[in-house]
Amino acid sequence: MNQQRGVTVWFTGLSGAGKTTIANAVDRELKIAAASVELLDGDELRQTLCRGLGFSAIDRIENMRRIGFVAHLLTKNGVIVLVSTISPYREIRQELRRKIGDFIEVYVNAPVAVCEWRDVKGLYEQARAGLIENFTGIDAAYEVPLQPDVECQTDRETIAQSTIKVLTKLEKLGYI
Ligand code: ADX
Repeated sequence: MNQQRGVTVWFTGLSGAGKTTIANAVDRELKIAAASVELLDGDELRQTLCRGLGFSAIDRIENMRRIGFVAHLLTKNGVIVLVSTISPYREIRQELRRKIGDFIEVYVNAPVAVCEWRDVKGLYEQARAGLIENFTGIDAAYEVPLQPDVECQTDRETIAQSTIKVLTKLEKLGYI
C-alpha cells in the first residue's frame, strides 16, 4: 500500500491570531487533494476530550498533552493532523515535537494589540474588564516559538498567503 506519511501541524499563537482560520484553509486544500486529514481545534476539544480543564498552567499543560496524544496516534496512522490551540508553553511544545517526531510548528503571529482589536469572541474586552482571569497575552504568558518551522504574520499577510506557506512546507518536507 502506498500510504501517506502522517504529520502533526501544530498551530500555536494568541487567541484571535488566526490559527483556526489558517488550519481550516489548509484542511480545505488538503481535502481537495484527497489527503487524509484531521483537524483538532482547541475550542472544540475543550467541549469534549479536554472538557473540565481550565486555564491554569497545570490545566493548559494537560490540555496540550491530551491533544498531543491524539495527534500522535493519528500521525502514526498516516494522517495529516492540524492542531489549532494557543499552547502557550515552549517546553511542552518541544516535548510533543520530540514524542511525535513528524511535527511542524506553525507560529501564527499577530501582535496582541491586533488580536485585541479584532476581538472576534469579545474575550479580550472581558479580560481587560477583569471578568476573565489568566487570559493569554493579557495576564497569562505566551511563550513565543524561537524556531518555528513556519511563521504566519497574520497582520501583514492574507489568509491565502499564510495557507500557501504551510502547504509549501508540507510539500518541501515530503508529506504531500
Ligand atoms: S490553551 O492555552 O490551553 O492552549 P486553548 O487553545 O485550549 O488554550 O483554548 C483557547 C480558547 O479558549 C481561546 O481561543 C478562547 O476562546 C478561550 N478562552 C477562555 N478563557 C481563556 C483564557 N483565560 N485564556 C485564553 N483563552 C481563553
